[in-house]
Formats: sequence, structure tokens, C-alpha cells
Amino acid sequence: MKKDITTLWDLNKQEIDHLLNSSISLKNDHKQGADKHPLVGKSVGLVFDKPSTRTRVSFEAAMIQLGGVPMYINVGDTQLIRNEPVSDTARVLSRYLDGLVVRTYSQQLLEDMAQWADIPVINALTDLYHPCQILSDIMTVVEQKGGYKGVRIAWIGDGNNVAHSWINAAAILGLDLVLACPSGHQPNRQIMQKALDKGIGKIQLAKTPQEAAKGADVLYTDVWASMGQETESALRKTAFEGFAVDEKLVALAAPKAIVMHCLPAHRGEEISHEVMEGPQSVVWDQAENKLHMHKAVLEALLKTWR
Ligand code: CP
Ligand code: NVA
Repeated sequence: MKKDITTLWDLNKQEIDHLLNSSISLKNDHKQGADKHPLVGKSVGLVFDKPSTRTRVSFEAAMIQLGGVPMYINVGDTQLIRNEPVSDTARVLSRYLDGLVVRTYSQQLLEDMAQWADIPVINALTDLYHPCQILSDIMTVVEQKGGYKGVRIAWIGDGNNVAHSWINAAAILGLDLVLACPSGHQPNRQIMQKALDKGIGKIQLAKTPQEAAKGADVLYTDVWASMGQETESALRKTAFEGFAVDEKLVALAAPKAIVMHCLPAHRGEEISHEVMEGPQSVVWDQAENKLHMHKAVLEALLKTWR
């Protein structure tokens, strides 16, 4: 049976722990120049309908380092743009490729693709979720904090796709997650409720960024206007006033707290220049770890779990 990652709910705690261990050992192998090539002869299509620097390049490099071949497929260059049904596209691509990595707007479209494809479909960001981002971010938390258990993670900012995947991860792994979001920009209620109902995590909403940041081990933020929300940028800047991760907010966190951002960042908006470039920022490790986690995900879905 093929396995997809449409949301983190497609994985259980054991599987996420496997990916964490595997990504860390793949990283060690790579640093020692001892890459293995388990995906020789395999190819993966990257079907992207939104811009990307990190996710695209890290998935492509991951596939190459594992001995396989990545193929970038801009949606605008396919017949999807001329309304060929997703069901037809997914079945055709399944006859050529061994996996699909998909970045698009609609979560439903991605799930339809997974339903029709005979090959694993991996969510590389939709308007609703960014599961692989959170997998690599937890890898960074494990590296920095020695594990994820008991680590207090504070999300400051928009209740967006990245926040939603953190909420899912908290429910599956039992994370301690507190979110501070301006009113009108809270996480999706159903996503929150499902996590609270099914999960084992401690998931809370804070009234202010200060309340969330207090004593936190990880301060995490993301852009105030996500891809597709560009026209709301000005309005959002007003709504998010006071939600910047700056030196004052970092001072409220635990003394050895780390600051995370999935990037791209807007310095002077959701994060100050000083914090982004400061000693507590781990954003470059975070970006690097996308490569190692994507290798773990590709190896698991295309080989180990097939
Ligand atoms: N963090 C992240 O997904 O970055 P890209 O948009 O550059 O892929
Ligand atoms: N929330 C952001 C994440 C970018 C990686 C967006 O969707 O644009």
C-alpha cells in the first residue's frame, strides 16, 4: 500500500519518530561524505503552483543525493491550467513517476491527487497545511533541545498553514504548544478542535504574545500575509501590530530559548533584524534540515514503507 503525507495526520507518533531518527542519521552520513543511494532508478515529480526556494531545492537535492531523479513540473506548463481533471493528471503521472511532491493552493486538490495517484503524494504546502516544514522543524528542535518532550513552543503571529501543521504535530506527539494570534487571525477552529479531541498535546491559545512567550523554549513566527494573501498585506500589518518577535519578546522567553522562522522572512514586520541575525536564531539550521528531513521522507515513502 502506498502512503501519502497530505497532512501530519497521515503519520502516527512512531512514524514521525522514525523520520526524526532517520533524518538525523542521513544528515550525519552526508556530513561524513557517506551518502547512500537507496533511490537509484526512481523519479519524483515536483508539481508546484506557488513559488518556492527552500522546499523545491531541498526536495530536488534530496532526490539527487539519494540517487534518484527529481522533475520540476510547473503547473502553469501542464494541462491542469487548461482544466484537465486532477483525477486524469494523477493517474497519468503515476504511470511515469514514483512519487509526487505537490505545492498548491487547495488542500482538497492535493487530497484528490493523492486519492487518484497510485504513487505517494507529499504535501509541500497548501493554504491549509505545511506538514514537511514541521517535520524538519521538529528535527531542529530535537537537535537544539535534545528532544521534543516537555519543550514549550510558542507560536506568535498568523494562525496559518504552518501553525495548523504545528497544531497537528502537537496532537500526535504530545507537544506543549501555545499560540498567540490577533483576533480574526486565529487558527482554523475545526483543526484546533480535532487536535484537542484526538490529541495528547497541551495546546493552548494565549491572549497576548507576551503571555505566549513567557518561559517558552522555542519562539516561532511566520509571515503575516501568506502566498495568495498579498492584497491583504496592508490590512494585516495593522492587525498584527504588537505581534513582532523582537528583542523585548525574546527577553520574556526561557534564557536559552531558540527563535525559529520557516522563511522567507520580512525583517521589521513579524521578526526584527536583530532577532533574526541574533545568537538565539536557528533559522539557517532550520532551512538546512529541510534537506535531511526530505531525504528521510522520500526514502520512507518510496522504499522503506512500500
Ligand atoms: N519554508 C518554505 O517552505 O520555504 P519556500 O517557500 O522557499 O519553499
Ligand atoms: N505561511 C507561508 C509559509 C511559506 C513557507 C505561506 O504560505 O506563504
